[in-house]
Amino acid sequence: MAAEDVFKKLISHCKEYGFIFQSSEIYDGLSAVYDYGQYGVELKNNIKKYWWDSMVLLNENIVGIDSAIFMHPEIWKASGHVGAFNDPLIDNKDSKKRYRADVLIEDHIQKLEDKITKEVEKAAKRFGDAFDNTQFRTTNPRVLEVQAQINLVKERMVKALTTDDLNEIKQIIVDAEIVCPVSGTRNWTDVRQFNLMFETKIGSVSDESSTIYLRPETAQGIFVNFLNVQKSGRMKIPFGIAQIGKAFRNEIVARQFIFRMREFEQMEMQFFIAPGTELEWFAKWKETRMKWHKSLGMGDNKYRFHDHDKLAFYANAATDIEFEFPFGFKEVEGIHSRTDHDLGSHQKFSGKKMQYFDTELNKNYVPYVVETSIGVDRMFLSIMSNAFTEEKIKKDDGTEDERVVLRIPPALAPVKLAIFPLIKKDGLSEKAREIHEQLKFDFNCQYEEKDTIGRRYRRQDAIGTPFCITIDHQTMDYNTVTLRYRDTMQQERIEVDKLREVIAGKVSIRTLLERL
Ligand code: GAP
Repeated sequence: MAAEDVFKKLISHCKEYGFIFQSSEIYDGLSAVYDYGQYGVELKNNIKKYWWDSMVLLNENIVGIDSAIFMHPEIWKASGHVGAFNDPLIDNKDSKKRYRADVLIEDHIQKLEDKITKEVEKAAKRFGDAFDNTQFRTTNPRVLEVQAQINLVKERMVKALTTDDLNEIKQIIVDAEIVCPVSGTRNWTDVRQFNLMFETKIGSVSDESSTIYLRPETAQGIFVNFLNVQKSGRMKIPFGIAQIGKAFRNEIVARQFIFRMREFEQMEMQFFIAPGTELEWFAKWKETRMKWHKSLGMGDNKYRFHDHDKLAFYANAATDIEFEFPFGFKEVEGIHSRTDHDLGSHQKFSGKKMQYFDTELNKNYVPYVVETSIGVDRMFLSIMSNAFTEEKIKKDDGTEDERVVLRIPPALAPVKLAIFPLIKKDGLSEKAREIHEQLKFDFNCQYEEKDTIGRRYRRQDAIGTPFCITIDHQTMDYNTVTLRYRDTMQQERIEVDKLREVIAGKVSIRTLLERL
């Protein structure tokens, strides 16, 4: 099945099984805003816990904060968001659709890259074992021609974006003969800048000075609290401040479900360091963060780094960790070496010293910063798109059946254990309830007694529950239950008294943290 169709199925599965709902659905929805349902919120909380614990529990020199969404408007001038948090937008005059001009160009580059991949695949089939990928890519005239086109477009785009040359961005679109995906025409407007921050008013008097912004990133709440945390926590450089919270951006192109939303959540950590050590720390955080992703066991080949072609003027290194979504490799996390830009700028705008006295170096300086910034919702989408599996299975009577199973990493699964009495009679329900009462303090458990056991298994598979236990007549005699594994569907008999230990060993966040 085409990846696009699988993605559509995933979106409807998320709704049907209480993971994600369109916001304000009964009023026809609000574009690019979503609500998390009863299972979605559990998965989201588990992702956040895995991140928070990996930062704050595992590192003595990282502490967390929770700053307000509303902040003094000068902060957004100092950070550069008022002046430069813009996307270049362009409209197609025929379809009346609005696009991010740089995204149109990136999509065009992607199409060219797909062309090369197809050529390589065709050749690999033709030549079999004798095929030399590198040689083919560096000598085949067709591949070289397309690669040259890619290089040229990329080079022009980086230059145009760096210099804010909107006319050149439009010219790239014209020269590359990019058409509107809806109307199929090349009837474009000029490219304009569009600021992504949402504005609102604070207080009862509505004038210019009362304009404030919904924060477009959580990072600034960390920067402006740098001295508060450093002093009150007697923190010594190098140290980090972590935060999880909502961020808001008036995205022009909101698409791919929860990949690009107007209200979303970020998990950000700013690591404060001595000037001159930033590239070393940048390399360390790159490695640490990639390990965090790979420890989920979703497949190492699903991730890659994408080093930025276009660096912000204050940054001296930046990379994205990309995940292979059904719609291709896309960014889930950014790691940026931001020099002393943010603290330096707040020092200038606020007039307050944002300096640190380094006792080892015996001098004052504005610390440098390496930041790691990941979207909770994108992380959620990566897990769900990797987990969603439709498979054929053999029933006990030899006939075939189908199931949809969410292979969510057990430590992140919304429900860890489902507890089923085989039948409602003979005291089995009471015994199952008793087990539930004991285990509910340790894990998110669900008790179910309706329908056949097979149907109950299917429902738990569909929400990704890694373990189900069945209480049957043997339970009453020997105090054992059957433990059924979601992924293999295998079952084993286990003593009730061992359940807590066995399951905790497989589903606690600790199992993930220990791999880091
Ligand atoms: N403080 C740096 C910063 O905000 P960013 O690359 O703009 O950097 C960081 O955002 C992460 O936040 C991204 O890697 C992505 O996971 C997430 N993110 C950004 N915009 C988003 C959006 N509109 N919807 C969902 N997630 C978003």
